Amino acid sequence: MFSTIAMAPRDPILGITEAFNADTNPAKINLGVGVYYDDNGKVPLLACVRKAEALMIEQQSPRTYLPIEGLAAYDKAVQELVFGADSAIIQEKRAVTVQAVGGTGALKIGADFLKRFAPEGAQVFISDPSWENHRALFESAGFTVGNYKYYDAATHGVDFDGMLASLKAMPASSIVVLHACCHNPTGADITSAQWDQVIEAVIAGGLIPFLDMAYQGFGAGIAEDGGVVRRFAAAGGALLVSNSFSKSFSLYGERVGALSVVAASAEEAGRVMSQLKRVVRTNYSNPPLHGGKVVATVLGTPELRQLWEDELAGMRVRIKEMRGELVRKLKEKAPGRDFEFVREQVGMFSYSGLTKEQVGKLRDESIYAVDTGRICVAALNSKNIDLVIDAIAKVL
Ligand code: LMR
Repeated sequence: MFSTIAMAPRDPILGITEAFNADTNPAKINLGVGVYYDDNGKVPLLACVRKAEALMIEQQSPRTYLPIEGLAAYDKAVQELVFGADSAIIQEKRAVTVQAVGGTGALKIGADFLKRFAPEGAQVFISDPSWENHRALFESAGFTVGNYKYYDAATHGVDFDGMLASLKAMPASSIVVLHACCHNPTGADITSAQWDQVIEAVIAGGLIPFLDMAYQGFGAGIAEDGGVVRRFAAAGGALLVSNSFSKSFSLYGERVGALSVVAASAEEAGRVMSQLKRVVRTNYSNPPLHGGKVVATVLGTPELRQLWEDELAGMRVRIKEMRGELVRKLKEKAPGRDFEFVREQVGMFSYSGLTKEQVGKLRDESIYAVDTGRICVAALNSKNIDLVIDAIAKVL
């Protein structure tokens, strides 16, 4: 039965973690996957999460099924976080939210939903480059996936004219996947004024925007990073937003994300919700309880929410410090090369400019990065950074 099955390639990101786990060198460093580590190289268990879990243990709640769309308090908290608590869209009940199995799960619910209800033949466009799984995920939902221009390797920034021209050339009803903040993999975001032009082009072209926000709070701040979602929502038209708490709550393995869809009216939103529920029910029935309850408890308890905001700010600041250190130390060890752009990038990642061959050489030294040269700056710390700098200087 399975004798003719070919071996699938390793996942370009999680496959690196597999190789890293198999490496017996105790000094190995994983700069591949997007995970935040503290200065001791540990994935933090946030204090706000610990406190929420303590409250949950006290409550001794039974583990019943959640509704298909997830925990009501969670879905409400997500909407307020994503669209702003005072959002007209929430008041008018035009947004519907389903709890999802991580940000990836949210994207997949959205992809399956769009495949059923977007106009026949609508294509998906992702940035060039984009998160490795975007293409695979939308293709597996049955879409043809194209690219819009984004990164300019020469400037280490965004080719904004190219991006805008790509958007304007897309057929109406194309689905355009945009990174709301902290572009993955490049770390290069567009400016606020450029977002105005993007929003205008999306609306004028009749495109369907799908905002992916996996790193809210890792750029300029929680509200600042969510600003693009609010501007799209205010501009009118259909909108899909996937978001994730994997990074911002350090809840990777709990798989906590959500998909929100903005419709034209409350009545339309009700019909959208009914179809989202069908997608969920036929895939995994209903979401898991624990992570959603932790997030809902933190976001719904003022002291815990403040604690979360402080802890998230701490992660954001430490990553920025690591960017500064990386630039400063590379200047000493590799004086011929300019890495100043690393300081300008936002979020967890840096598109370092390292080639696939150089990444291969780093791997020989047990330092793991993505083949494209993406490194996770959030995995650097005061103890491992010198090892990384020396290895990079050596392969350059
Ligand atoms: C990443 O880009 O490394 C993260 O989003 C983790 C993943 O699922 O790929």
